[in-house]
Amino acid sequence: MEKIKMAIIGAGTWGLTHVEIFNEHPLAETVAICDLNIDKAKAAAEKYSIPTVYADFNEMLKNTTCDAVSIVTPDFLHADAAVACAEHGKHMLIEKPLATTKEDVKRIMNAAKKNNVRVMVDLHNRWNPPYALAKEAVKRGELGSLKNGYMRLNDIKWVATDLLPWASKSSVLWFLGSHSLDTLNWFFESKVRQVYSVASSGVLKELGVDTVDTYLTTLVYENGCIAHMENGWITPNANTNINDIKFSITGDRGMIAIDASSHNMIQQFSDTKASVPDVLVRNTVHGKVKGFAYESIRSFIDKLVLNEEFIVSLEEAAEVSLVILAIMESVKLKKPINL
Ligand SMILES: NC(=O)c1ccc[n+]([C@@H]2O[C@H](COP(=O)([O-])OP(=O)(O)OC[C@H]3O[C@@H](n4cnc5c(N)ncnc54)[C@H](O)[C@@H]3O)[C@@H](O)[C@H]2O)c1
Repeated sequence: MEKIKMAIIGAGTWGLTHVEIFNEHPLAETVAICDLNIDKAKAAAEKYSIPTVYADFNEMLKNTTCDAVSIVTPDFLHADAAVACAEHGKHMLIEKPLATTKEDVKRIMNAAKKNNVRVMVDLHNRWNPPYALAKEAVKRGELGSLKNGYMRLNDIKWVATDLLPWASKSSVLWFLGSHSLDTLNWFFESKVRQVYSVASSGVLKELGVDTVDTYLTTLVYENGCIAHMENGWITPNANTNINDIKFSITGDRGMIAIDASSHNMIQQFSDTKASVPDVLVRNTVHGKVKGFAYESIRSFIDKLVLNEEFIVSLEEAAEVSLVILAIMESVKLKKPINL
């Protein structure tokens, strides 16, 4: 069977995560990588044996024979690359969020439709084992009719101050809220009808990153379900869990609670430091990459090969972006927003 030839736009932290799984997947190969910072693309090409390197994605799309492209640029820079890929007839795995403006969401959806290309957005919490198990229990009816949910997804400050050089041009809602919202939408199988959100700022601003610290959001769904969502970027750096995650979902006959941050399955200590290494998201076992962050990327290739529907549809990812924009509007106008 022919391998799916992948090209990558964005050779940063997460672009390399994509390359790692394509290099390991028996039915994928990475044929080109592009980054505005050509040195980053060259370093990645050398490390992962990628044959061609570009600084300009238009040049890459013109000169590279590939089947699909991973778009792994900062949150607010997905749309131009996505439209160009669609116009070259390439399927796409786009990092979350799909886009950060209504216009960009529309442009991507129109371009994908017009050029008949397939798009998956990497909303990977659906591959996270406790959530996948919970979803199966809900599908089997073990919770009865769903009523309400809660999802808290926070990061330590370091993510905004050090990991993401572009944090002040994005938002914790795009970076983390997209995962929380997609998870809640996936469970409730309904569209958000109304949002009300409040936000606090100041901690990150004082650290030189001009973005909101925390959003607390209420969601009301068309089917009557309600949920609370907490997204913050200011948990203390000494928290052994970079991601602080709590989730619960309640129906009229049962409830499921997930504590995905404090698993403590492996604890490591030195005289100055304690850590609980990640065993769920992204790690390596006997030289093979493991974890749900890789499973979503693997699934993109599997579904392309099998010509099956992606587990996250383009419409669902678009809905996530549009609801986040409504949440931001709610904070700005200090009132509930109907969708
Ligand atoms: N699925 C997840 O949980 C997860 C985790 C981390 C990051 N991400 C997402 O991945 C995306 C990238 O994040 P990151 O942490 O890798 O950021 P990063 O800053 O490490 O890398 C982004 C790279 O894109 C390059 N770039 C910017 N514009 C470009 C252009 N026009 N053409 C080519 N290259 C360009 C930058 O030079 C940079 O090297 C973001 O959307 C982020 O939200 C997702």
